[in-house]
Amino acid sequence: MNIKRICCIGAGYVGGPTMTVIAQKCPHIKLTVVDINESRIAAWNSKDLNKLPIFEPGLDKIVEEVRGRNLFFSTDIDEAINEADMIFISVNTPTKNYGKGKGMASDLKYIELCARQIAKVSRQNKIVVEKSTLPVRTASAIKSILDNTGNGVHFQILSNPEFLAEGTAIQDLLKPDRVLIGGDASTKEGEVAIQALIDVYLNWVPKEQILTTNVWSSELSKLTANAFLAQRVSSINAMSEICEKTGADIREVSKAIGMDSRIGSKFLNASVGFGGSCFQKDILNLVYIAKSYGLNEVADYWEQVVIMNEHQKKRFSDNIVSTLYNTVSGKKITFLGWAFKKNTNDTRESAAIRVADDLLNERAEISVYDPKVTEERIYEDLNYLGTRSSIENKRLLTINKDPYRACKNSHAIAILTEWDEFKNYDWKNIYKNMEKPAFVFDGRGLLNKEELEIIGFIYYNIGTGN
Ligand code: NAD
Ligand code: UDX
Repeated sequence: MNIKRICCIGAGYVGGPTMTVIAQKCPHIKLTVVDINESRIAAWNSKDLNKLPIFEPGLDKIVEEVRGRNLFFSTDIDEAINEADMIFISVNTPTKNYGKGKGMASDLKYIELCARQIAKVSRQNKIVVEKSTLPVRTASAIKSILDNTGNGVHFQILSNPEFLAEGTAIQDLLKPDRVLIGGDASTKEGEVAIQALIDVYLNWVPKEQILTTNVWSSELSKLTANAFLAQRVSSINAMSEICEKTGADIREVSKAIGMDSRIGSKFLNASVGFGGSCFQKDILNLVYIAKSYGLNEVADYWEQVVIMNEHQKKRFSDNIVSTLYNTVSGKKITFLGWAFKKNTNDTRESAAIRVADDLLNERAEISVYDPKVTEERIYEDLNYLGTRSSIENKRLLTINKDPYRACKNSHAIAILTEWDEFKNYDWKNIYKNMEKPAFVFDGRGLLNKEELEIIGFIYYNIGTGN
């Protein structure tokens, strides 16, 4: 089967970049990315490429090349569904914040809405691809909705989880470690659908890297991959606390264990804690699934990864308070970075949010500089917590577009995101304009301890005893 038209529902951090790269590599396919969020679609269509809704290195160039050629962004969801041979569902699947499974399970209401809309609108057979990260066995729920509420047309459901990481999305999409496709190979129609999706990827991904499994393995592999990755971060962060007590240095420990080829050197950077929209949500979902099967030991094992991460964020803010003579009340503390990692404007679950909330509870005055995150986003993140009124948040936390002004007159600087530009600042100048003693709390192990200490800073790093 030759795919000519693709629709992607959800123009977010996954749908946008993923379809952009498919469009570049498959000029013979017309792709339409649709979303209910009109302003997001308008931003994707914006002439000024700096106004795209997502900052991702390299994305703007490819959008410029393919937008209007074979890639389109639209709010006309019905039309895009109807004309497509293949529909990717790439909507958000956040943690439920109400009812059964609150705080743990994935909220599948957006997925179900998509399935119902596809069923309602479709007049010919279609392949529906789960791109969103979903609990294992969600495909059966989607199938049941499609088969029972549709117009008698046939749907094949595939699972094709996305493994891109933000900040490196374009490179990850251009050269994926693997592409995973789950489908029902036991039927002729299933096989045809699997092959149709394989053929799309074969336009640029070597066939050895395209892996096919049954649907359930594919769905569960995505949750498993994120659980393993997050577990590495929590494991190294747990060791960082032992390092601080014993005089061992976490960077030396990471290097020493990473040279063991069975362990590998990636993803062993101790930090203020992992953030992002995926790790916590997907592990909590895994914990919920395990519990729902009565697998309590399995659930407890994975939940500890999230508990450790919460602890890491809390002990970072606690250390700032205790180091600043047990009070930060009325003291200016500067945050360099608000995004959950460098090279993205995404702040979902960023450690900065939690650390800021803790310090504001201690009545600190916070000044934030981030090169890519908007002012509105930062206030929305804080207001969403509901800890204090939006007026109070605005009074206590200010946002600066100039890092030097952000640092002026502050008692301490906290590095929350590992943006490269921070390394090249004129730290002597920053020191000169700060209150003394001047502290740096490096939550990312980014700066050079010796250089800062020579200037006069008191420098704290995660995982290094002082
Ligand atoms: P996102 O919030 O950035 O984007 C989702 C978009 O879907 C939003 O713009 C929303 O308006 C839209 N939407 C919701 N319901 C809709 C509907 N019924 N019709 C049309 N549009 C609708 O989310 P994201 O970060 O792109 O993540 C999407 C999925 O991909 C999630 O399941 C996530 O777990 C998974 N994922 C994310 C990443 C990542 O790095 N962000 C990586 C891999 C997988
Ligand atoms: C993650 C997965 O890596 C990706 O495969 C999946 O598709 C989506 O979730 P993402 O959250 O975008 O991607 O970024 P990632 O690079 O995994 O970082 C997640 C968090 O862990 C960030 O806050 C990062 O700073 C932190 N981290 C990562 C560490 O603290 N230390 C590390 O060694 C690696």
